[in-house]
Amino acid sequence: MLPSGLLCLLFGSVASATSCAQRRNVVRAFNVRRNVSSSTTPLQVGNGNFAFGVDVTGLQTFNPFGTLSTWGWHNFSLPTTPGQTSVDDFTGLDWWTHGRLVNYDQPNPAENDISNWLIQNPQRVNLANIGFSFGGAKVSEADLEQTAQVLDLYSGKITSTFFYKGSLVEVETWADPSSDAVGISVKSDLLSSGSLGVFFDFPYSDVNKFDAPFVGVWNATDQHSTVLTHTGDNEATIQHTMDSNSYIMSAKWSRKGTVAGPSSGTHRYVLTTPGSNSLDLTVAFSPDQQTSVPTYNDLTTASQTWWRTFWNTGAFIDLTAVKTANATELQRRIILSQYLLAVNSASSNPPQESGLVNNGWYGKFHLEMVLWHTLPFARWNQFPLLSRSQPSTYARFLPSSLDRAAAQGYRGARWGKMTDPTGRSAPGEINSLLIWQQPHPMYLAETEYRSRPTADTLAKWDAVLTATADFMASFAWHNVSTNRYDLGPPLYPVSENTPPNSTINPAFELAYWRFGLDVAARWKTRLNQPVPQDWLTVRDNLAPLPVQNGTYVTYEGIPGMWTDPATTNDHPAMAGIYGLLPPPASGPPLNTTVLLATADRIRDTWALQDSYGWDFSMLAMNALRLGEVDRAVEYLLHPIFQFDDAGYAVGGSRVPTPYFPNSASLLIAMAMMAGGWDGAPGPHFPAGWEVEVEGFVPGL
Ligand SMILES: *[C@@H]1O[C@H](CO)[C@@H](O)[C@H](O)[C@H]1NC(C)=O
Ligand SMILES: *[C@@H]1O[C@H](CO)[C@@H](O)[C@H](O)[C@H]1NC(C)=O
Ligand SMILES: *[C@@H]1O[C@H](CO)[C@@H](O)[C@H](O)[C@H]1NC(C)=O
Ligand SMILES: *[C@@H]1O[C@H](CO)[C@@H](O)[C@H](O)[C@H]1NC(C)=O
Ligand SMILES: *[C@@H]1O[C@H](CO)[C@@H](O)[C@H](O)[C@H]1NC(C)=O
Ligand SMILES: *[C@@H]1O[C@H](CO)[C@@H](O)[C@H](O)[C@H]1NC(C)=O
Ligand SMILES: *[C@@H]1O[C@H](CO)[C@@H](O)[C@H](O)[C@H]1NC(C)=O
Ligand SMILES: *[C@@H]1O[C@H](CO)[C@@H](O)[C@H](O)[C@H]1NC(C)=O
Repeated sequence: MLPSGLLCLLFGSVASATSCAQRRNVVRAFNVRRNVSSSTTPLQVGNGNFAFGVDVTGLQTFNPFGTLSTWGWHNFSLPTTPGQTSVDDFTGLDWWTHGRLVNYDQPNPAENDISNWLIQNPQRVNLANIGFSFGGAKVSEADLEQTAQVLDLYSGKITSTFFYKGSLVEVETWADPSSDAVGISVKSDLLSSGSLGVFFDFPYSDVNKFDAPFVGVWNATDQHSTVLTHTGDNEATIQHTMDSNSYIMSAKWSRKGTVAGPSSGTHRYVLTTPGSNSLDLTVAFSPDQQTSVPTYNDLTTASQTWWRTFWNTGAFIDLTAVKTANATELQRRIILSQYLLAVNSASSNPPQESGLVNNGWYGKFHLEMVLWHTLPFARWNQFPLLSRSQPSTYARFLPSSLDRAAAQGYRGARWGKMTDPTGRSAPGEINSLLIWQQPHPMYLAETEYRSRPTADTLAKWDAVLTATADFMASFAWHNVSTNRYDLGPPLYPVSENTPPNSTINPAFELAYWRFGLDVAARWKTRLNQPVPQDWLTVRDNLAPLPVQNGTYVTYEGIPGMWTDPATTNDHPAMAGIYGLLPPPASGPPLNTTVLLATADRIRDTWALQDSYGWDFSMLAMNALRLGEVDRAVEYLLHPIFQFDDAGYAVGGSRVPTPYFPNSASLLIAMAMMAGGWDGAPGPHFPAGWEVEVEGFVPGL
């Protein structure tokens, strides 16, 4: 039943103004306010494919936060080492795999230079920095007074104000919802005198695996070039070239002005607009020579409309009637995660773990994280955002994934891991041996079908699901002595810390293989097509989930489970078999006694202090299915599972901040609390919590 107070534009239908007002109030209650720049996270405006991160000035004046996009990438030049000068010179390594040698894309010590090149290239580019220039004076944040800043989540606007030498500066910062453009308005007397201007600066790429909190190098100025290719009273175009990559920045502004520069030894240009105390500026980035730059008014109107629609068409959870600190903190995490995922993860490629904030893993994306990153858009009824990358990314990567499988002697499509926009997976031992990314298309497709059970949904996923299931069936190895189908060796399970040559039948992967083949078979039935027999044969003869001493364990035969500390850190994926995954639709049922004992063992022994990411959400989902709602909330508020003042998920000791799989997994767990799952429709919140939810369908 929908609570009347919240009915609002639900599923695209316009509803009463009061319900929209209620959502707006809940959202705006979590607007982010800052008085100093954070040294780790910006505030951002953006649209999923482009984002602009700012410091306390509303621009990138003191902290060179990122201006990152889906398309902006750079290659360093190839090595010149004889025999390693082309990507085709990389041969990887052969490992024995069930009695035959299989070639894996792993760094080859004899091909160190090209192996490293393939890992480090391409990197995602910080397109430019845009900040305030104080007429040549060297100014730091400490020289500003009364700095104040608000991010308005409901319209996608950052308002920043400060005083410099007694003069007020007022700034608004916006992003265009549909292009790679930022809109900036500045009001200050300092503009008229020319003692306040706006700079544009361009960094070179860096080779750091983690380029955080800032992306790029600013002192390698002789390694790249910029040219002011066009300039007029109200516009300028700068072309930035790094090796063989090049793109355009186009700026348009409201008053007569001049772009000067670059100042010597830099790639810094400065726009000044003397004679007026206000400036409206739009800056667009493009890989093409022709860039259309929206007007400031069009851009800000579009942003307001886009965000209002976003907040009013998606699913919604309102915990504001629950007057406890825990509920308020959960609500804060929910709202800010929704905003940040729309800004950073609603892209046409899968997002990287740090979104468009900074670079992790060179800015590449990990296909095993695709489920966490994009599932929230399906579970929160934001299908247009899901559709940006799904299933188009899989469809785009299908040919190279069919080739990858074929080269290894398998049928179907083997999805890669740490991937760039061309679909190439970076060399790596773990990268080449991880398998839990394979069934993700089934999870996404089946989730979409529940909300959109149409012929179109069936058709658009069919080729991807078929190729995925073909690989999964072909990868499972028929063990003649047991007459079962085994997974591995070699492989790495979700917890990337087991010996790959002896890791066999990991619990999560076995459960996920069954789930994936079940969905694939169901898909064919819905399409009135025959189900390939090998899918069913493998599914019905998969090795059983490994159980030792009354608990599910990481993989079959794992030594020292629960007693050797090496077995109780990294991701506790056994919890995922009944949490993230629904109970099996085929084969033997899960044993509830064993599930409960496993959950207790994890809680009592797991090194959660070293955990990061979605472990907490996965454990929360497991607790929910086991009927332990309070424990689920406890996991979601675990002291190690932190979100900063602006809602960015804190990376902790192992990965930099932000780590968006945390934000995404939180929303998936919350959707499960709100919408429930098959056989247990929601909501499922702690006793006494008065919660309003709408727009959720039960999950798998
Ligand atoms: C980087 O180089 C690879 C290999 O030649 C190529 O496939 C890719 O398109 C290049 N990317 C960019 C951004 O230049
Ligand atoms: C796994 O086995 C291959 C040989 O098939 C060997 O080259 C590799 O070093 C082994 N890996 C580990 C981590 O022991
Ligand atoms: C801090 O910023 C808020 C707005 O974000 C503003 O209301 C407040 O006055 C500021 N505080 C100080 C001390 O400047
Ligand atoms: C650039 O700056 C970095 C970090 O400060 C420094 O390590 C490096 O040596 C500098 N490079 C040049 C070419 O000045
Ligand atoms: C067949 O399965 C058994 C039980 O899982 C396992 O111990 C054995 O190593 C498997 N055989 C081969 C050749 O992998
Ligand atoms: C089985 O579990 C019990 C109770 O937790 C424990 O005392 C025992 O050592 C375990 N045995 C093995 C083989 O792990
Ligand atoms: C479930 O596991 C418990 C504990 O290991 C065991 O005693 C029980 O027989 C199992 N139940 C079924 C139906 O297999
Ligand atoms: C709030 O959450 C914390 C962390 O899970 C928990 O320790 C505490 O008991 C909760 N407080 C209330 C009032 O539920």
